[in-house]
Amino acid sequence: MLRRLLLQASTTRRLAGAHFTPPSSPPLLRYRPLSSSSSSTQIPETHLGDNPDQPSATISIDRSGLCNPPAHSHEPCSDSELVKHLKGIIKFRGGPISVAEYMEEVLTNPKAGFYMNRDVFGAGGDFITSPEVSQMFGEMVGVWAMSLWEQMGQPGKMNLVELGPGRGTLMADLLRGASKFKNFTESLHVHMVECSPALQKLQHQALKCVDEEGMADTAEKRTVSTLAKTPVSWHATFDQVPSGLPSIIIAHEFYDALPVHQFQRASRGWCEKMVDVAEDSKFRFVLSSQPTPATLYLAKRCKWAGMEEIAKLDHVEVCPASMELTQSIADRIASDGGGALVIDYGQNGVVSDSLQAIRKHKFVDILDNPGSADLSAYVDFASIRHSAEEASGEVSVHGPITQSQFLGSLGINFRVEALLQNCTEEQFESLRSGYWQLVGEGEAPFWEGPDEKVPIGMGTRYLVMAIVNKKHGVPVPF
Ligand SMILES: C[S@@+](CC[C@H](N)C(=O)[O-])C[C@H]1O[C@@H](n2cnc3c(N)ncnc32)[C@H](O)[C@@H]1O
Repeated sequence: MLRRLLLQASTTRRLAGAHFTPPSSPPLLRYRPLSSSSSSTQIPETHLGDNPDQPSATISIDRSGLCNPPAHSHEPCSDSELVKHLKGIIKFRGGPISVAEYMEEVLTNPKAGFYMNRDVFGAGGDFITSPEVSQMFGEMVGVWAMSLWEQMGQPGKMNLVELGPGRGTLMADLLRGASKFKNFTESLHVHMVECSPALQKLQHQALKCVDEEGMADTAEKRTVSTLAKTPVSWHATFDQVPSGLPSIIIAHEFYDALPVHQFQRASRGWCEKMVDVAEDSKFRFVLSSQPTPATLYLAKRCKWAGMEEIAKLDHVEVCPASMELTQSIADRIASDGGGALVIDYGQNGVVSDSLQAIRKHKFVDILDNPGSADLSAYVDFASIRHSAEEASGEVSVHGPITQSQFLGSLGINFRVEALLQNCTEEQFESLRSGYWQLVGEGEAPFWEGPDEKVPIGMGTRYLVMAIVNKKHGVPVPF
């Protein structure tokens, strides 16, 4: 059946009645292949400190992966609130800000950050993610969570934490899929770690939450998802999730949104790439002329990597927020028990120059109209491993393996076959292309529609890593 699914000619059938909306333009998953060829861009050296007359360094930046840059990306126009805010910081500091600070403001500034006030997902938004592609993704993550819960000895009370849940689709599919396994769902308290008030509202709807009055002995109200009758709470940061219970933590496409510092090798050594305002009032990249505080993290990352890996690179990205988050996760798992699952695009080693901007399913210039495009960077899985292992000797790290291996081992083939038994004519096509996008590689061989809409398999591009308390053994399917 599966083979037939992939080989059978395309028909006009489309999915109806599920959460997947057929896109009118080809939806973009956020993975961008890094190109080995690069075009040169001149980046001036910044005048950090009082040294404005230093000669400019010439560095090269990979812009080859960018497409459709707006023709007049920096035309003078009335600045948005966020642009004014960013320029205000640079002016107040008397010098440029790091790419990490720029990225953090662009994504999560409370008033005008990209994620803060709207729904950015799906065909009508800026990009699409795996949970939005197919319900099978959340269901398979649910299978993983239930397996780990069993390995943990089926605790009667447990936190199920999701970091950056977007629209809440993954958790909704997980709970719906797990709802028959009452011992599991009755043990859960779901914690959604989400900084965006707009997305928190969407998550509340996706989980079909109701606000219940408190019990007689307590005045506290609680919110319950009717999908599996589990209590749900929201938090802005992981550290706010209450400790003391074993936890299973899911991070799908969360790490890639954490701010990265970018470094460039120059004649005098590694310099940090910064964002400045040029004389014509446009944003531009400059190089720091002195060591910056983030150099400490660069040194740490280089130490983990070893000489050979670093020697071949002219650019390095480091993500202190990822290192710190991983340490908190490892500490929590060590003290309370449980495990974490990280799924993202990235590589198992030092990341060079991967920061990208996406608006309306197209790659755009990182500095263009900040706040209107998503920024994300490849995840450095080796750094996650080192951070976890350094934080605690009581956790073990597994993977990364490819998403295709992960979903395949957990039984996505059986799930798609089961869904196919009962699908309508319309659902067949969506199941087939969704399955391919999750586990396939490259262009779908069965596609007969327009070239620009061909489903692209991301099964080997996305990687999966688990961090678990050693006392639970090796998690399935690592
Ligand atoms: C790329 S989206 C992924 C959404 C979802 N996991 C999915 O796969 O559809 C990143 C999510 O992380 C949230 N987010 C980004 N940075 C955050 C931060 N620093 N703290 C909390 N949430 C954050 C965003 O609001 C969004 O929900």
